[in-house]
Amino acid sequence: MPAIVEVADLERLHRARVPKMFYDYAASGSWSETTLRDNRRAFDDMRFNQRVAVDLSTRSVACELLGQKASLPLALAPIGMLGMQHADGEIHAARAAAAQQVPFILSTMSICSIEDVAASCDAPFWFQLYVMRDHGFVKSLMDRAKAAGCTALVLTLDLQLLGQRHADVRNGLSAPPKLTLKNLMNIALHPRWALGMLGTQRRGFGNIVGHVKGVDDMSSLSNWTARQFDPALSWDDVAWIRDYWDGPLIIKGVLDPSDCAQAASMGAHAVVVSNHGGRQLDGAPASLAALPLALEAIKALPGRASRSEVWVDGGIRSGQDLLKALALGADAALIGRAFVAGLGALGQDGVEKAVSFIRRELELSMAFCGVTDVREVDRGIFWPPPHRELQSALT
Ligand code: GLV
Repeated sequence: MPAIVEVADLERLHRARVPKMFYDYAASGSWSETTLRDNRRAFDDMRFNQRVAVDLSTRSVACELLGQKASLPLALAPIGMLGMQHADGEIHAARAAAAQQVPFILSTMSICSIEDVAASCDAPFWFQLYVMRDHGFVKSLMDRAKAAGCTALVLTLDLQLLGQRHADVRNGLSAPPKLTLKNLMNIALHPRWALGMLGTQRRGFGNIVGHVKGVDDMSSLSNWTARQFDPALSWDDVAWIRDYWDGPLIIKGVLDPSDCAQAASMGAHAVVVSNHGGRQLDGAPASLAALPLALEAIKALPGRASRSEVWVDGGIRSGQDLLKALALGADAALIGRAFVAGLGALGQDGVEKAVSFIRRELELSMAFCGVTDVREVDRGIFWPPPHRELQSALT
């Protein structure tokens, strides 16, 4: 096997090791995948300003995220069905996050349940909430997250309806997979994955099956979400959820500046500027492109709301990408596909590799720009250099 030195290596191995249905689920965007591609392009189009003769002997990318120490300004995004990328995937990812000192966010649509992850990992994690039609069930999810020691709630607002990902429709995506001849043949081509799955009982949606009356199997994800997710979700729901949770709240999935401002005004400790990895509104801007207006809108708010942290996700595959997001003003970022690739490729070790590659790339790239502490990164590290500095250097 060639040496694994960057996230792209993990992505290749992920594709080789995981059945097509689940690889495609992670890799796809909605419809034409314009936004999926734009998320990447926005990073590729920016350039840094190299500086020299700065003392680089001590460097730090450590920070605090919502008062919790982190080894870099990064968290693992909530991803549905991680446990289909690798047996017991959520547990492996949570352990990797703990070992690498970054927050892990467990999705409502996880395979391993909240209780399972809490029992299998010493470090606290965060819980991501989707608003279902049954508000009693939404409350019970928050109760379970509290009881399991989750230290923050991530409320996702951009999935009242599910964007169509063509590959998922073509593949008949379901968890566990339907045992059609085509699926069986594809599973047989991925024996490592299949053996892992045979060795675990965790193959359905652990937070849902057995907890919602009448839901004992969820063969088609898209039909199930269409039936259960609340299409009438409103800011009033955000208010009651905020009051019910009574702890750090992160609002995820906002792009429009006034939506960002609304989320911060309602008391979100952090707002995640996100287009859901290009999986929802195809044609929406890259998250990175939406970030400056979101920051402007939030920083202009009165009082505490102006101090809400602003995070971003969508397209981050390297420390250079993360550095660009931080330089534009983000306090932190989430990675999704970058760590999913690690999980599908190598389980816990792959997730740890993804995070440590990004940390090392961030630390070195920041230093090449003449900055030694990640908390001091700002727009000054972009090329072209600020005009005034250039003038004084020339005179
Ligand atoms: C769920 O969050 C999805 O994007 O499929």
